[in-house]
Amino acid sequence: MTGSIAIIGSGPAGFYAAEALLNSGEALCVDIFERLPVPFGLVRYGVAPDHQKLKRVTAVFETVAAHPDFSFIGNVTAGRDVSFEELGAAYDAVILATGAISDRKLGIPGESLPGSHSATEFVSWYNGHPEFRDHSFDLSHPCAAIIGNGNVALDVCRILAKTPEDLASSDICDHALKVLSDSCITDIVVAGRRGPLQASFSIRELREFAAIPGVEAVFDPAEIDEASASPDEMDAAARMLTILKGFSHPDEPRKAARRVHFRFLLSPSRIEGEGRAERVVLSRCKLEGEAFARRAVATEAETELSAGLVLRSVGYRGTPLPGVPFDDAKGVIPSREGRVIDRDGETVSGLYTAGWIRRGPSGIIGTNRECAAETAEAVLADLRADRLTRDPSLRSRLLSRLQTGAAQTVNLAGWHRIDQMEQTVGAAQGKPREKITSVAEMLAAAAVNMPEPALP
Ligand SMILES: Cc1cc2nc3c(=O)[nH]c(=O)nc-3n(C[C@H](O)[C@H](O)[C@H](O)COP(=O)(O)OP(=O)(O)OC[C@H]3O[C@@H](n4cnc5c(N)ncnc54)[C@H](O)[C@@H]3O)c2cc1C
Ligand SMILES: NC(=O)c1ccc[n+]([C@@H]2O[C@H](COP(=O)([O-])OP(=O)(O)OC[C@H]3O[C@@H](n4cnc5c(N)ncnc54)[C@H](OP(=O)(O)O)[C@@H]3O)[C@@H](O)[C@H]2O)c1
Repeated sequence: MTGSIAIIGSGPAGFYAAEALLNSGEALCVDIFERLPVPFGLVRYGVAPDHQKLKRVTAVFETVAAHPDFSFIGNVTAGRDVSFEELGAAYDAVILATGAISDRKLGIPGESLPGSHSATEFVSWYNGHPEFRDHSFDLSHPCAAIIGNGNVALDVCRILAKTPEDLASSDICDHALKVLSDSCITDIVVAGRRGPLQASFSIRELREFAAIPGVEAVFDPAEIDEASASPDEMDAAARMLTILKGFSHPDEPRKAARRVHFRFLLSPSRIEGEGRAERVVLSRCKLEGEAFARRAVATEAETELSAGLVLRSVGYRGTPLPGVPFDDAKGVIPSREGRVIDRDGETVSGLYTAGWIRRGPSGIIGTNRECAAETAEAVLADLRADRLTRDPSLRSRLLSRLQTGAAQTVNLAGWHRIDQMEQTVGAAQGKPREKITSVAEMLAAAAVNMPEPALP
């Protein structure tokens, strides 16, 4: 069996789908289209710069990319530079792995005041995403508030809390390190609407806060809603509680220059201030519902947090692609076993999806491997059953149109030139890399005729 597959998006889901297809033993060629000139999606633009070990997964993706039947076609936005009709006609199958680019909204007054930002925006800024590098964040007020209790909330909190010296050896972008070096923030509140037993963050990420130089983590045991917790829930969260209870008590004298306050049972009701965010008003919550499915219910009691910077970390959100079915309530492309389905529940022939745009914005990098493997299985089953058809000449026509068009595309060698340049500049500063943050500069770096890196 032969076949050609286009994958849209070069994050973990795209690469894991390519891996499963290229390892299937069938004679397939796989082209990954990426809107940026550089690959790896949120591994490059989401994963925290001080978590370098997690970025080593890119070595797996580079092995996939080295397959002779794999192509990377960067700086091409599907739905703009190439239509989904064109892709559908040129390939046996098109897998949509475009991730979740946007953020969920709180829907409260004052959400869009200056000084109130989504965590998505802050993360993309410090990680040097070209569309966010020019955003600005005012860190001149001593207090910051982070809304949400997921791992992204902990990432942005660590980046605000750490000293510039501590961040200097990470791959945080230079522009962000400069702003963070001048930060006046001394107190950061991470506020969850439910209790610590229901928090989404992981134990390992929470534990890190016990050992950040110059940072003191604070937790008030009075904010555990033990009355609403079953013994099973207490057992399941025992390790989380042990870590939290090991933190300082809010009444203890300050021990470090910066404090991170883990607060619970607080739901934001509005952000207030004269022309910019100055405080967050939160409703105290109680928990209702069954064990392991507790809901936060706001009471009439309110509390106020002074904050010049508010980061809303309540989840990412997928956005629609032109002409592709979309479930607006869930922010995902509707699918069955990875096959895209339309409004009537019918399969859209030749169209598949994987990763966050298929499942929604949750799950770690590895979660996408299983998801993408299932999608690849669906593609293989349809190819074997001869359910997919296309005109083989259209793929080469499409690729030559893109390669000779006005917009420069970036292939794997071009990405390796960018990568090498970033690592060289970073090494001179004692960093793993200094990312190039403008598309124009990335394209210039990709076009430079540098020798390929020597193999070890
Ligand atoms: C801030 C943050 C930190 C995280 N940290 C960790 C961590 O430390 N460890 C961990 O295991 N997981 C972490 N995760 C989760 C992990 O990043 C995700 O599970 C994973 O990246 C989702 O993969 P994806 O391929 O579905 O989406 P993405 O990684 O978002 O990839 C989607 C790709 O599609 C491209 N694209 C979008 N639209 C188009 C288009 N129209 N045409 C062409 N290309 C397009 C995008 O540019 C992007 O490159 C983190 C997530 C976030 C948000
Ligand atoms: N180091 C890592 O491994 C790492 C790092 C970063 C991200 N990730 C992964 O990436 C995925 C996304 O992470 P995430 O932190 O963006 O999302 P998340 O884990 O879904 O957490 C979202 C948080 O926002 C809260 N929230 C949602 N709506 C809210 C509202 N209206 N008001 C107040 N709070 C609200 C949620 O509370 P409720 O629970 O009450 O709804 C939850 O605490 C996760 O799977 C995460 O594990 C992993």
